[in-house]
Amino acid sequence: VFANVVRAPEDPILGVTVAYNKDPSPIKLNLGVGAYRTEEGKPLVLNVVRRAEQLLVNDRSRVKEYLPIVGLADFNKLSAKLILGSDSPAIQGNRVTTVQCLSGTGSLRVGAEFLSRHYYQRTIYIPNPTWGNHTKIFTLAGLTVKTYRYYDPVTRGLNIQGLLEDLSSAPSGAIVLLHACAHNPTGVDPTLEQWEQIRQLIRSKSLLPFFDSAYQGFASGSLDKDAQSVRMFVGDGGECFIAQSYAKNMGLYGERVGALSIVCRSADVASRVESQLKLVIRPMYSSPPIHGASIVATILKDRKLYDEWTLELKAMADRIITMRKQLFDALSARGTPGDWSHIIKQIGMFTFTGLNTKQVTFMTKEFHIYMTSDGRISMAGLSSRTVPHLADAIHAAVTT
Ligand code: LMR
Repeated sequence: VFANVVRAPEDPILGVTVAYNKDPSPIKLNLGVGAYRTEEGKPLVLNVVRRAEQLLVNDRSRVKEYLPIVGLADFNKLSAKLILGSDSPAIQGNRVTTVQCLSGTGSLRVGAEFLSRHYYQRTIYIPNPTWGNHTKIFTLAGLTVKTYRYYDPVTRGLNIQGLLEDLSSAPSGAIVLLHACAHNPTGVDPTLEQWEQIRQLIRSKSLLPFFDSAYQGFASGSLDKDAQSVRMFVGDGGECFIAQSYAKNMGLYGERVGALSIVCRSADVASRVESQLKLVIRPMYSSPPIHGASIVATILKDRKLYDEWTLELKAMADRIITMRKQLFDALSARGTPGDWSHIIKQIGMFTFTGLNTKQVTFMTKEFHIYMTSDGRISMAGLSSRTVPHLADAIHAAVTT
């Protein structure tokens, strides 16, 4: 009965890893998926995560009962504080409802599903370009996806004029997806002044901001700094959706830990919203898994562990910044044609190189370097040892 099922293409990001795994070359390099690697090219489990896990294992009172539909209460409270700030009036006024979800994707998905059931506007504006999964998540929830201008390929920076124009012509109430920091794939973020312009426009048109916060602490090394955009919007008292992921900043990729927070106008609305979120979650996956959320809660509620985490987080962010410098220097040393200063200007996990699909294909074929076809490279996958190889490949790609 399934004889007519058509083969689906691989995922544009995760499929890169599939192709990489099949390549027997000893010099192969995976710069596709945004996953942190050490200088030795190995995945990293943070020390603080190991310590939290040890504490959890040693605690014999811990059981494996189902979590409530909305997840671990401590985790939810601490996650809201982490993104909104511990002195947030929205939290103090009980205007925020937070539910534990399956990492960033799950949080976006639950939020999208809630919106499609309970919000009058069905159009969401996402930046062009954006993380490839965004379109699929929102489309599947029944929303109409439109794009707003974001990236300017000529300046390799933000097209603030285009962004403001496109959001100005959006219908009142439309949902707007914003990357809280370290925009994926471009690594280009608005300045604080530009965020303020965006906020004013969004509020004046009663648009609904939906933040995707996948890199808090990972962009600048400071958790507070990377939350500034979100806090600016929540600070004005208006509504806001926030999807948080602990994949990158705690290295909990496969644990699938994230949270969806919905900031409402009153405590009463927030509690009714939460009751409806439960109806979204229960038939989807019943309740979320306990382990990863317990790790996060253990770290966030203990001052010493929290401080240790911030140090390890900063070390990851700094290593990525060092890779940017090294790659930029390596291209300068080779006299590679073109202006590569965007490599050090862009922030977060990715560099949007400007290389085209043909050049990417060439680099994969000739140099066994794997990256997404839009020219995005994961700086977190690079090390001092592999920078020269990448620089050679980029040089060859633009000169042949
Ligand atoms: C990425 O963009 O590489 C990451 O966010 C991983 C993913 O799930 O796509």
